[in-house]
Amino acid sequence: MKILGIETSCDETAAAVVEDGARILSNQIASQVEIHARYGGIVPEVASRQHILAIIPILQQAMAEAGVSWGDVDGIAVTIGPGLAGSLLVGVNVAKAIALAHRLPITGVNHLEGHIYANWLTNRSVTFPLVCLIVSGGHSDLVLMKGHGDYVLLGRTRDDAAGEAFDKAARILGLGYPGGPAIEQAARHGKAASLKLPRAWLKESSDFSFSGVKTALLRLVEGGKVSLAASQGNRLPTRNDAAASFQEAVIEVLVTKTIAAAKERRVKQILLAGGVASNGVLRRWLAENSPIPVLVPEPILCTDNAAMIAACGYHRFQAGKIDGLDMDVIPNLKPV
Ligand code: KG4
Ligand code: ZN
Repeated sequence: MKILGIETSCDETAAAVVEDGARILSNQIASQVEIHARYGGIVPEVASRQHILAIIPILQQAMAEAGVSWGDVDGIAVTIGPGLAGSLLVGVNVAKAIALAHRLPITGVNHLEGHIYANWLTNRSVTFPLVCLIVSGGHSDLVLMKGHGDYVLLGRTRDDAAGEAFDKAARILGLGYPGGPAIEQAARHGKAASLKLPRAWLKESSDFSFSGVKTALLRLVEGGKVSLAASQGNRLPTRNDAAASFQEAVIEVLVTKTIAAAKERRVKQILLAGGVASNGVLRRWLAENSPIPVLVPEPILCTDNAAMIAACGYHRFQAGKIDGLDMDVIPNLKPV
């Protein structure tokens, strides 16, 4: 079964063709990151305009790369939320138009469920029950998954999402946008023990909180305790040291709480998902410290893409979840 996936929830316009929920025939992504970098973050009106410009060429490229014509496609999966309303509308309306023109079934996909399904594109041995840590720009969720489409939310962030915290910390340190990759890169040249930053353990809860660590970093920078100058003339911790300390503070909490939740639920596997899951230190720490097998998607499949939406859509079609053309976007859709 070949599914065309369409993703326009944030600042990537993406289309992909995936066979049987696992084999990627094409995966096209048009990133707007350079446009939004000028503003230091995503500007919603600019994002939806860019989606309109990019969606048709990206769809054509995805079909050409896969070597398929409309007659070969069995269904369309499109992100309906959570995300920016104006951005989601572009993907959903294009998906509906294609479904109508080519008489194809359509299914609306939760973007965060899509992130989880990126794991099926990389690993052939996903086994239930499992715990998945979804860490993206808008979410930090711990989810128990007992089967396809069967979820229990174990924990979520009470304030900033992990990716959002990386983005804000990068801004504080003058590292630019998007912050996650910039912090990871800077941290390679820094010492994580340089700054003492707080960890919010929140006792027995599987919830997260990252606003405290971000504010602590801001206070240290404002108080002149970090040297943001290029020269290394003084003994203050450098920008790279601060990036390494921040990264370690966030990752230590993510790893510890994920392993604790997985042990408590006696699951067979731990899955990582979402843009922050492309962070090499997080991937390594979790794999090295977990007694339970850890699966992670390829880094390119962790950040927003349409192959993960098609993979999730395949399992929705298998479960008979077909939507009507009255399907609408749900910008504040809950994680699962
Ligand atoms: O999943 P995603 O591509 O988009 C959303 O659904 O939000 O995640 C984007 C987030 C951004 O906050 C970005 O800074 C973060 O993922 N991110 C990273 C890394 N690459 C992307 N965070 C830490 N380390 C990375 N290497
Ligand atoms: Zn995402």
